[in-house]
Amino acid sequence: MIRIEQCTKYFHRGSVNEVLALNNISLSIKEGDFITVIGSNGAGKSTLLNYIAGSFFADSGRLLVDDTDISRWPEYKRARWIARVFQNPLLGTFASGTIEQNMALAKKRGKPRGLGRGVKPQDYEFFREQLQHLGLGLETRMHDVVGLLSGGQRQALTLLMATMTHPAILLLDEHTAALDPKTAHKVIELTETLIAEQNLTSLMVTHQMKHALDLGNRLIMMHQGQIIFDVEGEAKKKLHVEDLLHKFYEVQGEEMSDRILLA
Ligand SMILES: Nc1ncnc2c1ncn2[C@@H]1O[C@H](COP(=O)(O)OP(=O)(O)OP(=O)(O)O)[C@@H](O)[C@H]1O
Ligand SMILES: [Mg+2]
Repeated sequence: MIRIEQCTKYFHRGSVNEVLALNNISLSIKEGDFITVIGSNGAGKSTLLNYIAGSFFADSGRLLVDDTDISRWPEYKRARWIARVFQNPLLGTFASGTIEQNMALAKKRGKPRGLGRGVKPQDYEFFREQLQHLGLGLETRMHDVVGLLSGGQRQALTLLMATMTHPAILLLDEHTAALDPKTAHKVIELTETLIAEQNLTSLMVTHQMKHALDLGNRLIMMHQGQIIFDVEGEAKKKLHVEDLLHKFYEVQGEEMSDRILLA
């Protein structure tokens, strides 16, 4: 169980640029919850994920993992439990390393690095099997540097690396937004499979209403730093895109972002 209690986060507090990015947010994430997160630009979605990952400390509030208060834990200390995939395929991997080197690093995530002798034979075999599972032919390219891969291949690899160590929570921030529709579809399918296979607890930010409805067991909508809608189970299954658009209209009037209208 991961619990956010009354979290508030300002950026540039006290200056003319002050932003209240998270406004007294509370959220209990049950083990195995797969929550899709929607909301217009600037609603606080990425900030919520960044808060969990430890990119910054909040001005007030607490973050608890199984009753341990990790609010003051630095990002690197959380890395063993928290995996993330961003919108930009370039961020999740290091381009000049080979596929196997990247995977070896991912396997050591959050552990002391040390000066290992490179990839162990049993690890190599494990990585090969994992890549085969992706169905993208990457198992034959393990010595290729990651910089040679397409955005979609890279994002699939990042996802695989993120889930390889069974994180306590997987944070996905618009991780298919930079991909063409066909590749995005593949990566979404892969996301579903990997999460289901391991029953991973996950938060997935998306601007695609259909993805937000089709995936996961729970959906939250954010607006101006608050969670304004939280629905799960059967009630979520009954929702339609129109219901979500209606909610957006309710809070935003006519100022709906183009990205939402395009969904
Ligand atoms: N590091 C930062 N420094 C200053 N302001 C920030 C920072 N990160 C986020 N903000 C501000 O906090 C607010 C929430 O931003 P956030 O990135 O969480 O929105 P979002 O819901 O992810 O939007 P989008 O859909 O555009 O990705 C915005 O007003 C943003 O400008
Ligand atoms: Mg964002």
